[in-house]
Amino acid sequence: MRVIVFGASGMIGYGALHASLRDDAVTEVVAVVRTPLDVAHPRLRQIVHADFTDFTAIQDELTGLDACFYCLGVSAVGRSEAEYTRVTYDYALAAARALITASPGLTFVYVSGEGTDPTGQSRQMWARVKGRTENDLQALPMTSYMFRLGFVQPVDGAVSRTPLYRRIYRATAALHPLLDACSPGTSPPRTLSAGPCSPLPGRAAALAPSCTTPTSTVWPPRGGEGDDGVTRPASR
Ligand SMILES: NC(=O)c1ccc[n+]([C@@H]2O[C@H](COP(=O)([O-])OP(=O)(O)OC[C@H]3O[C@@H](n4cnc5c(N)ncnc54)[C@H](OP(=O)(O)O)[C@@H]3O)[C@@H](O)[C@H]2O)c1
Repeated sequence: MRVIVFGASGMIGYGALHASLRDDAVTEVVAVVRTPLDVAHPRLRQIVHADFTDFTAIQDELTGLDACFYCLGVSAVGRSEAEYTRVTYDYALAAARALITASPGLTFVYVSGEGTDPTGQSRQMWARVKGRTENDLQALPMTSYMFRLGFVQPVDGAVSRTPLYRRIYRATAALHPLLDACSPGTSPPRTLSAGPCSPLPGRAAALAPSCTTPTSTVWPPRGGEGDDGVTRPASR
């Protein structure tokens, strides 16, 4: 299996990248980054790319891939809707379209956020933009999963690229055992790699950055149940 990770330098992408590298069934991990990662591994291939709205220049390097973990994203705090839309919507759709062409049959896992609004009615700008992103990704001719993360605790060296979030994680670290205790039966918030939250097909399930709270959800491709037999909400 060959996987591609977007956002591998970030906190969530770190989990997807390292889970993929730990899995012997993954023969190659491709990381598309704008700055080289300080990670060396015989199965890791880094592609340094500048324009995330246009992947034409690296299209030939995106062939033969089985799954994409799209973990690239920014906080909406301090950003205009146009700026947030460019990074959230334009980049994700451009990546998906390039992958559909280069690697037909690929499964696309989009890391979204809890509270995302696919109806476009939310008063929160980020929720509308992420909702539109989810909608339009699911309208593309590919198998896609919208992975709505709730709270995620950074572990095993994962660090948020967002200074505000780093401060929040430090300030709330003492509460994590309490969250564990309040969430019986859910995957523990320490898990950023392989884990029990796996309603995704085949190996992609084991590699997706695990959801970490009862609020995290994975939506199946539009139109119904996934091919793994897991029953999910029928409508959004
Ligand atoms: N962390 C959480 O608790 C949490 C919870 C719910 C949802 N999420 C969602 O998960 C996604 C990733 O979050 P995160 O916490 O991993 O964020 P993060 O630590 O800030 O990492 C962001 C990633 O996106 C890349 N990126 C940002 N702006 C870019 C740009 N203009 N061009 C190219 N790459 C860019 C960064 O690359 P550089 O290193 O080059 O900047 C980095 O790899 C986001 O969509 C977020 O909403 C996260």
